[in-house]
Amino acid sequence: MLIKYNIIGLKYIFFISIFVILSLPANSELSVEEIIKGRKALFSKNYSTAKRVQALASKGEFEKAKTLMIEMSENYKTLIEYFPDNSKEGFKTEALPIIWENKNEFNDLMTKSSNDMIKLTKIIETSDDIKGTLGKFMWSNCKACHSKFRAPH
Ligand code: HEC
Repeated sequence: MLIKYNIIGLKYIFFISIFVILSLPANSELSVEEIIKGRKALFSKNYSTAKRVQALASKGEFEKAKTLMIEMSENYKTLIEYFPDNSKEGFKTEALPIIWENKNEFNDLMTKSSNDMIKLTKIIETSDDIKGTLGKFMWSNCKACHSKFRAPH
């Protein structure tokens, strides 16, 4: 009997451990290097995706463009988690300290950028000025954030 209970106990601990591991925030295990390099990679990816969105939408390939818009929207949400307090410097980051002094404003801009990509999926097809609409709901958000929160280069 004792052995049986121990096995049940072990199973219990095993499942609890799995649960705890799975419920930790995704990046809690990442080093500062992985965080800074990770966010740079995500921004670069969004840049190339944005260019593809523009190319596809200009050609009238809206379904493909919309899939990429949703991808960008999700990436912005992920990026919010990529600016923890310990990632202010190092690894050639261009993130300015003002981000952590105005974290709410920064996060709001990220959320707005994410929401605007979803708005785009709804209006792009019927827009009579594709370029202007992409400018307003996609490109202007990059500039709004970079001009305040990213080092000029
Ligand atoms: C809410 C803020 C915010 C928005 C919106 C935003 N960026 Fe950025 N971006 C940043 C910050 C901060 C950095 C610097 C990250 C670092 O170096 O750690 C950055 C860095 C970059 C980089 C350089 C990555 C590297 O390898 O160093 C590119 C490219 C970039 N952004 C493109 C874009 C484009 C294109 C858009 C819009 C489609 C955009 N960003 C929207 C804040 C933003």
